[in-house]
Amino acid sequence: MTQILEGRVALVTGCTGGIGSQISRHLSDAGAHVIGADIPDRDSGNNTASYHQLDVTDETAWQRVIGAIEKEQGKLDILVHVAGIVVVEKLEKTTIEDWRKQMAVNVDGPFLGTKVAADLMRRSGENLPHGASIVNISSVAGLIGSPLHTGYCASKGALRLFSKACAMEFSALNYKIRVNSIHPSGVNTGMVEHILDRFVENGFAPSKEEARAGLGPAHPIGRLAEPEDIAKAVRFLASDEAGYMHGSELVVDGGYTAQ
Ligand SMILES: NC(=O)c1ccc[n+]([C@@H]2O[C@H](COP(=O)([O-])OP(=O)(O)OC[C@H]3O[C@@H](n4cnc5c(N)ncnc54)[C@H](O)[C@@H]3O)[C@@H](O)[C@H]2O)c1
Repeated sequence: MTQILEGRVALVTGCTGGIGSQISRHLSDAGAHVIGADIPDRDSGNNTASYHQLDVTDETAWQRVIGAIEKEQGKLDILVHVAGIVVVEKLEKTTIEDWRKQMAVNVDGPFLGTKVAADLMRRSGENLPHGASIVNISSVAGLIGSPLHTGYCASKGALRLFSKACAMEFSALNYKIRVNSIHPSGVNTGMVEHILDRFVENGFAPSKEEARAGLGPAHPIGRLAEPEDIAKAVRFLASDEAGYMHGSELVVDGGYTAQ
């Protein structure tokens, strides 16, 4: 693997999860110094050079983590917002607590992280040919609707436009920070297993086996995504190869939304 991220410092939230652990590994394999952050007290995947316990909904915790990165590394070139949760529930049964919890992790988290890291990333971006890079993991649920996902779709749609608005504001301020979102469809992680369980429980599929069997053919490319498919797209957006990608939505969905 060419070291396209040699010398770059990256922070990945949700780094112990299915997609976050592969993003950490791919950035690290490309030469980046990867700092992971997540809820558990340590990184079970060992794909990061160092690790911070971070609840992304906590602004004070973000200040602690970004402050530590500035002290230890002096810069932050790449920030990947991966942490996310899904509540799979009928609209009429969704509680306001479920709605707010999902909004807090999926929208407040990237808002707080971007706000707290912006100044350090602005200064870091000055020294890079194509600036610093923020990558937000949204979803096809931020582009199209899906049953049992009203709150999730609302949160991922919000993240999509938050990304574009950040891109516009940073450019207006002459900050060299590129901001883009990625939109995966189904990715083979624990999150999909949970979604399948909830579809069966709600009578949307006769059994988990049948629901799972339908996933591959639902994607024109014939299979569900693996976390690596998403990690490669993040590696691209984080690198100078994507120097002209700004405010864009990169759809990585095996053709799902092209139908
Ligand atoms: N799996 C899919 O099919 C799929 C599809 C499209 C988008 N996504 C998005 O990709 C991202 C990663 O999903 P995944 O499939 O790896 O799920 P996952 O459940 O394996 O990982 C999610 C990670 O987020 C962390 N997290 C949750 N709340 C947090 C908080 N408050 N603070 C910090 N970390 C927190 C969890 O601890 C976990 O490590 C999510 O944003 C998800 O919405 C997933």
